[in-house]
This record gives sequence, structure tokens and C-alpha cells, in this order.
Amino acid sequence: MRLVMIGAGYVGLVSGACFAEFGMQVHVVDADPAKIAALHAGRIPIYEPGLDQLVADNARDGRLVFGTDLDAAMEGADAVFLAVGTPSRRGDGHADLSFVFAAAEQVARAARGPIVLVTKSTVPVGTGRQVKEIVTRVRPDLQIAVASNPEFLREGNAIGDFMRPDRVVVGVEEGPLGQRAQELLRRIYRPLFLMETPIVNTSLETAELTKYAANAFLAMKISFINEIADLCEKVGADVHDVARGVGLDGRIGRKFLHPGPGYGGSCFPKDTLAVARTARDYDSPLTLIETTIAINDARKAQMADRVIAACGGSVAGKTIAVLGLAFKPETDDMRDAPSLVVLPKLVEAGALIRAYDPVAMAHAKQMLPAGIAYATGALDAAEGADALVVLTEWNEFRALPPARLKAAMRGVVIEDLRNVYDPQAMREAGFRYRSIGRP
Ligand code: UDX
Repeated sequence: MRLVMIGAGYVGLVSGACFAEFGMQVHVVDADPAKIAALHAGRIPIYEPGLDQLVADNARDGRLVFGTDLDAAMEGADAVFLAVGTPSRRGDGHADLSFVFAAAEQVARAARGPIVLVTKSTVPVGTGRQVKEIVTRVRPDLQIAVASNPEFLREGNAIGDFMRPDRVVVGVEEGPLGQRAQELLRRIYRPLFLMETPIVNTSLETAELTKYAANAFLAMKISFINEIADLCEKVGADVHDVARGVGLDGRIGRKFLHPGPGYGGSCFPKDTLAVARTARDYDSPLTLIETTIAINDARKAQMADRVIAACGGSVAGKTIAVLGLAFKPETDDMRDAPSLVVLPKLVEAGALIRAYDPVAMAHAKQMLPAGIAYATGALDAAEGADALVVLTEWNEFRALPPARLKAAMRGVVIEDLRNVYDPQAMREAGFRYRSIGRP
């Protein structure tokens, strides 16, 4: 089986490497020569645990190759996967599909025989149909089947999620071409079906909407528990016990009920916005999701106010240690990270920030305001600080001994926005400690 993966970004690299690991021949194509050169030199442009090894092993065995030349990659290809970016379009929040359509057109031009074109990027409902129109217009002489196979992987867990997914969703066009696409994808994912992974076979539109509905639901769960956490603080309840007591109901489920400073990343903010826009366009508004978005946006700003309040109403001239900048641990991704809202507000209020993140600092420096000091480690960030804020729940922050933190800091304020510490232990160490939704 020969596969072409267009896009050496997150989804493209992870899926490409995993398909190669399944034993298929995978050619990853990206228009950016610098990215391809880096991959040839063995450098992975993203931080994802285990990916460097997986790429290196499969590249060494010749199953995974990289290039910029789509024509060359198409030689003998059975299926082409589109894993190009779909950023939010500036202004209206719709997904920008120019990369998807351009890639579909290039694939059609370069195709030598009947192929299956599979969209892995998260795309608005109806995109698969548009892709079909493009390939039919460009190559009326060829039978190009179109499929939608959304990806549900999480950053930091991407390989595990790909290799052991909860389900595989495959949407295809009607008729014999769709049948062919479905059969081919079944063969591609055969190693997963041997592990009895469920497959959801649907139409193109259903597969496209399934991806958005899944992300929107998860985002809603997070905004839900964040509001419950706020109420817990007011009434003296413990949000972790509430989440457990609620989540053990099998109809609800325990996952994604961890309170925090609001969700970020490359998917939830963008996808919730995109599906809410689509729904408005069809005059079938998703008011629950619109509210979820509003709650999350407001929450990030509230987190800065919370820190200011913990510092006695003003942070002017105060040194604040910030642990964690990425939107979650095990990634260097800063997209829509709460730190991008919280830190500028604190800087504006006159705070002196000493920030540390194990892997995201290079990206953070490009996106955060000037004047922030970057520390060499968590304890270095805490050195002489009046207050400490935890923004990302890296394990190395959890492991910090309270006494060492206490000795490093000048002040006693800790705002733990990820609930990584034990409140009692922190109070016993002499901190004025506050976490989210715990008494
Ligand atoms: C998400 C989806 O999980 C994945 O299926 C989809 O393909 C892409 O989007 P990802 O963005 O990598 O993956 O991260 P995820 O682990 O889902 O976390 C998203 C955000 O939600 C993070 O900012 C995280 O801190 C936050 N979160 C998650 C919470 O605040 N509480 C939770 O209980 C879970």
C-alpha cells in the first residue's frame, strides 16, 4: 500500500509516521522546503513525545520518505491524505480552506490513475463535496473517490491516540466510488480493526460534522466544570469530588472535567468557532457552543484578575513567577494558550514576570509582550518572587518540594490555576495558597 500525506504539520507527521509503522509506504509532502530539509536532517519541527523515534525508525527502514515534489510522490499512490492547515479566517471565524482546495487541485492534476483522496484536516461540513467538485472539474477523465477521515488525536498523546483510538470515522461519497474508498480505508486501518476498534462508516457530511461535534462537546464539558468550580469556591464545595461524583455516572464520563484557566490549543477554540459559524449560516444556531466560547474567552481574562486580587489588589512592581506557558503539558504549542491573555494583562498592570516552561519558551518569546524575564527552571522562576502562578500542569511542577519553593520565593502567594498541589501541604509550608474550585 502506498500513501501520500500532504502536509508535514501535526496531523500529517503523526499520521504519516503511524501509517508507516503499520507497514505501509508513506510519502509525506510539504510545500515548505525548510521543513522537508529539517526532516531529512532528522529534526522534527514539532514537539511530540515519541515522534522523533518513530519517524527515525520508519525513515531508516525506508517506509517513510519526505519531499516537496507532489508529482514524484504520486507515482503508484493508492490514497492521498490531506493534512494541511485550516486556520480561522481573519474577521469572520470561518475556517480558511484555501490550502485544502489548492492541495486537492494539485492532487487531481498530478494523479496518474484512479485514487482515493482522503481529508484528514478538520474541515467545515460540505468541504468534501467541494473537494469532489474540484477534482471532477480538473480531471473529468479520472475516477477520484473522495473520503473524510477526521483525526481525533491530542497533542502530547498523539501516537497513543492514533495507535489506540476510541473509534475510526470514515465518511465517503455515494455510489461505487464511495464503496471503493471505504474498502481501501478499511484495509489501511486493518491493524486497528484487529484490535476491535469500532469503525463508523458514514456519508461525507456526517463524518465532517462528527469531528466538530466531538470537539464542541469536549469544550462544553470543560466550560461546564469551570463554572461549577467557580460555584464550588462560593459555596465551599470541592470541584474534584463533584467531578468524580458526576463523572462516575457512565452517561457522563469522568474525562474532561478538570477545571483550569480555560481551554486553548489548535483545535477547541478554532473548531468551536467554526461550527458555531456554520450553524448560524444554516440558521440553526448552536447556542450551547456559542456560550461555551464566551465562557472560555472571559475565563482567561478573569484569571489575570484573580492573580491581581490574590496579590492584594495590585501587582504593580511585584515579581510574579509563572510556571507553564503552553496550552497544556507535553507540548510547545502556544496557540490560544491562557498565558497569551493572562501575562499581557499582568504586564499591563505593572507586574514583573519571571516565566518558565520546559519546552514552550522559544515559541512564547515570539508571542508574549517584551519585558518578560525567562527563567532556566521552575525554582529559578520562583527566586525572589512575590507570587507564583501555575498555568500549565507539567509533572515537574507537581514534583517541586513546597519547602524549596518557599525558600526561593520572597512572598507567600500561590495561585494554582491547574490544581497541581495539595492545598493542605501548601498551607503547612506557609503559603497563602489558592487553587480552582477547592475550599
Ligand atoms: C483536542 C482533542 O482532545 C482532540 O481529540 C482533537 O483532535 C484536537 O483537540 P488537544 O487540543 O491536543 O486535543 O488537547 P486536549 O488534551 O484535548 O486539551 C485541550 C485543552 O483543554 C487544553 O487547554 C487543556 O488544558 C484543556 N482541558 C482539557 C481542561 O481544561 N480540562 C480538561 O479536563 C481537559
